[in-house]
Amino acid sequence: MKKGYFITFEGVDGCGKTTQMKLLADYLRDEKDLCVIETREPGAKGLGQKIREILLNYDGEVSSQCETFLFLADRAQNIDTIVNPAVEAGKIVLCDRHTDSTVAYQGYGRGLDIEEINMLNNIATRRRKPDLTIVFDIDIQTSMERVGKDKDRMETQGVEFFNSVRDGYLKLAEMDPDRIKVVNAARPIGDIHKDVIKLFDELD
Ligand code: TMP
Repeated sequence: MKKGYFITFEGVDGCGKTTQMKLLADYLRDEKDLCVIETREPGAKGLGQKIREILLNYDGEVSSQCETFLFLADRAQNIDTIVNPAVEAGKIVLCDRHTDSTVAYQGYGRGLDIEEINMLNNIATRRRKPDLTIVFDIDIQTSMERVGKDKDRMETQGVEFFNSVRDGYLKLAEMDPDRIKVVNAARPIGDIHKDVIKLFDELD
């Protein structure tokens, strides 16, 4: 049976990862004739979409711990119903955000214990690890300009929060250079796309 792949797309809000994931999906289908599944966290479909709605739109008090568990609940659903069945069937799964988002946002951003987050991520994912994670790195001023004025609950965090999140991603990449690759996302879309294809071609 063909080997499946699990590839995750990460970065601060406004980094352009969603656009790049779509471009890679189209390229792999059209040029390489591969079977590609696109998913995202939070909110791939069904129950996940309901959890996403709460996470991004609920306007009452949300504790950091509760927020973390909601992201993890969505992750468990995504892994069990979409990611694992597709990877095990030899498909290529592209996922817009995954475990590193929780370490970067709730760990480095909110200040929750990173060891605990790692442990919870392992439970939610049944220890499935991405074969490749691409972090789209961009300065926070540019990313915030891209997000614009229409912000969701997470995007309303300040510059300091997003700088911590960005630093968190860069630290993660330093700690796990075989899996996590950093791409400079402050360049034209086509140039970034070429880097993404190269990273895909380098997979075993
Ligand atoms: P999106 O806008 O890329 O779809 O992501 C939704 C928001 O949720 C974004 O601000 C990042 C945030 N997020 C976390 O804080 N922790 C997580 O574990 C995930 C998956 C997303």
